[in-house]
Amino acid sequence: MRQNIVAGNWKMNKNLQEGVELAKELQSILSANKPNCRVVIGTPFIHLTEVCKAVDQDLIGVSAQNCADQESGAYTGEVSAEMVKSTGARYVILGHSERRAYYGEDNAILKTKTDLALKNELTPIFCIGEVLEEREADKHFDIVKSQIEEALFHLSADDFKKIVLAYEPVWAIGTGKTASPDQAQEMHAFIRKTLADKYGKEVADEISILYGGSCKPSNAKELFANPDVDGGLIGGASLKAEDFQGIIAAF
Ligand code: PGA
Repeated sequence: MRQNIVAGNWKMNKNLQEGVELAKELQSILSANKPNCRVVIGTPFIHLTEVCKAVDQDLIGVSAQNCADQESGAYTGEVSAEMVKSTGARYVILGHSERRAYYGEDNAILKTKTDLALKNELTPIFCIGEVLEEREADKHFDIVKSQIEEALFHLSADDFKKIVLAYEPVWAIGTGKTASPDQAQEMHAFIRKTLADKYGKEVADEISILYGGSCKPSNAKELFANPDVDGGLIGGASLKAEDFQGIIAAF
């Protein structure tokens, strides 16, 4: 059952107290005003336990923004998928372009992280997307396809159905430059076709594919109106309850 999802990615913003406050604010807004989509918030690791206590996860799912590519052991500073799970969180964002660009995460590492997330019954929100030079060189379809193939196509159809994809053109992230609804739909349809070629149409039709990159209350509706856009992964606009609610209300 394909779900519409609006997921927030707080990135490295909000200290613990501020984060819990924002989570409580969202909990109160959304319990009074039931969303027509699944809502998720992706918080820093140290917030997870408290945020899980502050929200009803049937209303607001809680997500980490990363997990380690190792199960456990001598990996100073890392946080395992099992640890994320033990906080009560249900999701983990993987392969965000900032992780790929600043922390050297490639498709092979992301393949391992995906396996560990699934093993620990976390839902991966798996990010893919091209940089500006790749789009300008007309390589964006190939890049996105190889990101999916190399990190995810080893999965069985049953496991693939547990993944949420987020297409985030890197040139649109935090830049105020959004992909046009047509550009988003074109890529989302391509992604769904890529999934259908591998796993069949039935599986492809079940996967939620979110759009990310400068999505805000003023453009969410026209982006989400596209048949293959099943919601958004929201950075900047997820840091204020009012803006985030404005995007959720697009459904
Ligand atoms: P943005 O970030 O909404 O601030 O562009 C999106 C993301 O990086 O997930």
